[in-house]
Amino acid sequence: MSATVLHHPLFSLQGRTALVTGASSGIGRHMAKTLAQAGAHVIVAARRADKLQTLVDEIKISGSQATAVSLDVTNADSVKACFDQIEALGLVADVIISNAGTTVAKPALDQTEQDWDDVIDTNLKGCWMVDTEAARRLVKHKKKGSIINIASILGERVAGAVVSYSTSKAGVIQFTKALALEFARYGIRVNALLPGYVVTDLNRDFLTSEAGKKLESRVPFRRFCEMEDLDGPLLLLASEASQAMTGTTLPVDWGHLVSSL
Ligand SMILES: NC(=O)c1ccc[n+]([C@@H]2O[C@H](COP(=O)([O-])OP(=O)(O)OC[C@H]3O[C@@H](n4cnc5c(N)ncnc54)[C@H](OP(=O)(O)O)[C@@H]3O)[C@@H](O)[C@H]2O)c1
Repeated sequence: MSATVLHHPLFSLQGRTALVTGASSGIGRHMAKTLAQAGAHVIVAARRADKLQTLVDEIKISGSQATAVSLDVTNADSVKACFDQIEALGLVADVIISNAGTTVAKPALDQTEQDWDDVIDTNLKGCWMVDTEAARRLVKHKKKGSIINIASILGERVAGAVVSYSTSKAGVIQFTKALALEFARYGIRVNALLPGYVVTDLNRDFLTSEAGKKLESRVPFRRFCEMEDLDGPLLLLASEASQAMTGTTLPVDWGHLVSSL
């Protein structure tokens, strides 16, 4: 990503408040830094407070603004409390990255009811709770906003041993389109990013295994994603550069979705 594009005024997030759920590690942590660099005051939210505080310190050292807020996206009271804390700072989140997610990698016949509930509650119900509460606050404060749901290419294609995960992400994709339709009247845009495989805590064991390397060789560009590959699409959807875009579901995957394998 060239500095020219990152600093183009259309992509600026100066004066914006960006909430990133699941910011304590992986993609969310990286996205929080990218949004802060583009000028947003970033609210980093997750359950592990120590990791959030380290991130806030890093962002502040680089001269940007950040605040940590504890959040469990599966708990309605926690979601409400998160938005109350943002309001108590005198801020309204007008960029919302619904990124918190989890997975259970087991064959379908081995997945328990608890496994299913954990994945669906975090990835799909969590998204619903965060996005709708965010919109309530935006409507109350008569502000426009941009919601970005982090889905996955596995919401459109399938793979073995991730049936609850793929189903949750397919739900996020349809949910994104349905919300986009309803929220247009409030000036709130809702889009989804569909990352291909990015090596993080969620999948490191598999992606670095022999089977992971085989999978990588079937991606048309023969590579998995780096976190930085998401920067441009993220800033596009977060900023006014995408003012006419809503209900889109954008793959960022080096062509993985168009491969037939
Ligand atoms: N890595 C990939 O290849 C890939 C590809 C496509 C899409 N994605 C999606 O990208 C998102 C981030 O995944 P990642 O790869 O960065 O995984 P990760 O490193 O495991 O991060 C997951 C994040 O979600 C948070 N989280 C989990 N349950 C939560 C809950 N109940 N409440 C609040 N936060 C919760 C975790 O924080 P705490 O544990 O501190 O709460 C953590 O910060 C997920 O939605 C994932 O499905 C990942």
